[in-house]
Amino acid sequence: MTTIAVLGAGKIGEALLSGLLQAGRAPDRLLFTERHPERSAELSRRYGIRGTDVATAAAEADVLVVAVKPQDIEPLLTELAPAVGPGTLVVSLCAGLPTALFERRLPEGVPVVRVMPNTPMVVGEAMSAISGGRHAGPEHLTLVAELLGSVGKVVRVPESQQDAVTALSGSGPAYFFYLVEAMIDAGILLGIPRAVATDLIIQSAVGAATMLRDSGEHPVTLREAVTSPAGTTIMAVRELERHGVRAALLAAIEAARDRSEELGREHERD
Ligand SMILES: NC(=O)c1ccc[n+]([C@@H]2O[C@H](COP(=O)([O-])OP(=O)(O)OC[C@H]3O[C@@H](n4cnc5c(N)ncnc54)[C@H](OP(=O)(O)O)[C@@H]3O)[C@@H](O)[C@H]2O)c1
Repeated sequence: MTTIAVLGAGKIGEALLSGLLQAGRAPDRLLFTERHPERSAELSRRYGIRGTDVATAAAEADVLVVAVKPQDIEPLLTELAPAVGPGTLVVSLCAGLPTALFERRLPEGVPVVRVMPNTPMVVGEAMSAISGGRHAGPEHLTLVAELLGSVGKVVRVPESQQDAVTALSGSGPAYFFYLVEAMIDAGILLGIPRAVATDLIIQSAVGAATMLRDSGEHPVTLREAVTSPAGTTIMAVRELERHGVRAALLAAIEAARDRSEELGREHERD
């Protein structure tokens, strides 16, 4: 039985713990660390799992999942370095932090797997991309894929693609929230009450997402199926094209990728 410790049980850390429990992991095989005693007590009450300190987590767990904000990584690595053994798998959920940073700071040979998850993890619908560092073998990637598989879907990518993944699926939910927000505004413009517009758009988003996922059809095929000659949809599509929405998305995602690369370079200098 694998013991897993989540270091930094914030939004993503808690979502992972909750998913692991729902997937049938025994509560006594899950640990977490937290800076605030009230939050720690609350998590223990809610999930029946144990809060502890970093040294104990490192001594007891087979897998350490690092889920602190990237800017909090340095003090955590300082605490972790003397405590972690070479047989412990370290999994980083920290956006933009290269596996090389962990490898430099932790004892030689510690396997590190980098994960880019996204916030739908809180509803068990995460998209996580995983990459192994220098000392991570196939067995480590398989274990991480299994763990993350309990809170959503998992793909393996070379670490060189993690900045692009960050821009696509890491930030991806925000683009959909933005689109939904704009469409609700359009409903208001057309005189629909906000609550009704919100229901109309959210259910359309859920329905469209489910069709995209479950039908196996290409998005173009699905869109063409609701775009009749001289109909309403094509009038809207013409406006989207006229306003360069497709080009805006390409440029936006490229800008997010560039920012992720820039943040990674800041840590390479550490
Ligand atoms: N949320 C997202 O959309 C998303 C998506 C992809 C990846 N991620 C990554 O997931 C990680 C966590 O993000 P989050 O949104 O869950 O952040 P969060 O809610 O701030 O969670 C981080 C938690 O770690 C705690 N912490 C910080 N340093 C600690 C230490 N030394 N020991 C124990 N606990 C410590 C923080 O406590 P305090 O409250 O005291 O700071 C906080 O509770 C980040 O690295 C982020 O890049 C997040």
